[in-house]
Amino acid sequence: MSFTDFCPKGACDGSGWVLDESGDARPCECREIRVSRAKGRRMGTGIPKRFQGVSFDRNPVRELDPVVLREVRLFTGAIDARIAAGDGAWFQGDVGTGKTSLAMLISKAAIEAGHSVAIYSVPRLLADIKETFEQRTTTTYSELFRRLCDVDLLHLDDLGAERRTDWVLEQLYSIVNERWQSERSIVVTSNLTNLDELREQVGARTVSRLAEICGDPLHIMGRDLRMARTG
Ligand SMILES: Nc1ncnc2c1ncn2[C@@H]1O[C@H](COP(=O)(O)OP(=O)(O)OP(=O)(O)O)[C@@H](O)[C@H]1O
Ligand SMILES: [Mg+2]
Repeated sequence: MSFTDFCPKGACDGSGWVLDESGDARPCECREIRVSRAKGRRMGTGIPKRFQGVSFDRNPVRELDPVVLREVRLFTGAIDARIAAGDGAWFQGDVGTGKTSLAMLISKAAIEAGHSVAIYSVPRLLADIKETFEQRTTTTYSELFRRLCDVDLLHLDDLGAERRTDWVLEQLYSIVNERWQSERSIVVTSNLTNLDELREQVGARTVSRLAEICGDPLHIMGRDLRMARTG
């Protein structure tokens, strides 16, 4: 059964409307969630196939650092409250250590709780933004920007993997600043662990705002799990 068929609040018949005693229809509490989810549904890549089965009980997540796993469990266990508070999470570490898998656990929990989520690798997001400037495009820049700012959770994968230009720095700053101002959640993964390098690549003001939304980055140590799989 999908979220469109039933009311997550248990208050309406799944239509998004409730009838009062006099027979008048009023919007159900679930409508706000539906509207924001509908906005997010058309955005980003969704959970990529490789990460659809991601779970605390399975590898590569199961064997990751218990301290990090505890933080992620606390986040997913209180997903509604954490999103309402505009909290985020930031996973840093070397290639193949499990960062994206951990971030996907949070996005998955948010989607399952009925929140709108936009998942993007940063280079792909920048390409989508560029595309809005082309003629014959269906989405304008301001529509895309508004949706990036309005979605309940923005998941930015591989921050720092983009080619650094002034235009890129400006785009990242605009999105992060807007979400920071309106206290909206962001989940980030990044290979860059050195603060100076990160500031250089992403921009100091953007890094500062991300740090306020996400708190201290969770550092994922270990080997490249993809290599470990193949031998
Ligand atoms: N037992 C396993 N079951 C499923 N996947 C596994 C397993 N062991 C390793 N992997 C692989 O480990 C990979 C590493 O995880 P992930 O992609 O989350 O790392 P990452 O830190 O985001 O890497 P990168 O920095 O390259 O983006 C997964 O993509 C997955 O294919
Ligand atoms: Mg990754």
